[in-house]
Amino acid sequence: MSTVTVTLVQVDGQEVVIDDAPLGESLMEVARSRGVDGILGDCGGGCACATCHVYVDPAWEDAVGKPDEIEEMTLDMVSHVTRDNSRLSCQIRISPDLDGLRVTVAPSD
Ligand code: FES
Repeated sequence: MSTVTVTLVQVDGQEVVIDDAPLGESLMEVARSRGVDGILGDCGGGCACATCHVYVDPAWEDAVGKPDEIEEMTLDMVSHVTRDNSRLSCQIRISPDLDGLRVTVAPSD
C-alpha cells in the first residue's frame, strides 16, 4: 500500500474524497494539491499559521492523536473556532493507519 483514502468535508458541506493520498505526505499537502477549499497552508507546514485547521471525525481521534505543545500554541491563534478535536492538518502525516480518515475543514472565522 502506498496510498490511502481520506475524506475532507469543506466548510460549504461538500465532501472531497481523495483515494490516492500518498503515505508520508501531510494531510495539508494532500488537501492543497487537490484544491480543497479552506486549506491554505500559508506557512508551508511549519506549524505557525493555523490556516490548515481541521476537525477530526470522532471515530478517528484516537488514530490521529492529540496535538503536541507547539501545535497547541498555534491552535490558540484560532481559539475562537477550536474544538476538542481540532488539529492542524500539516501535522497529520498520512500513514496506513489513517486509511479512511475523515476530517472537516474548520472555518477561518
Ligand atoms: S500549514 Fe501553517 S500551521 Fe499548518
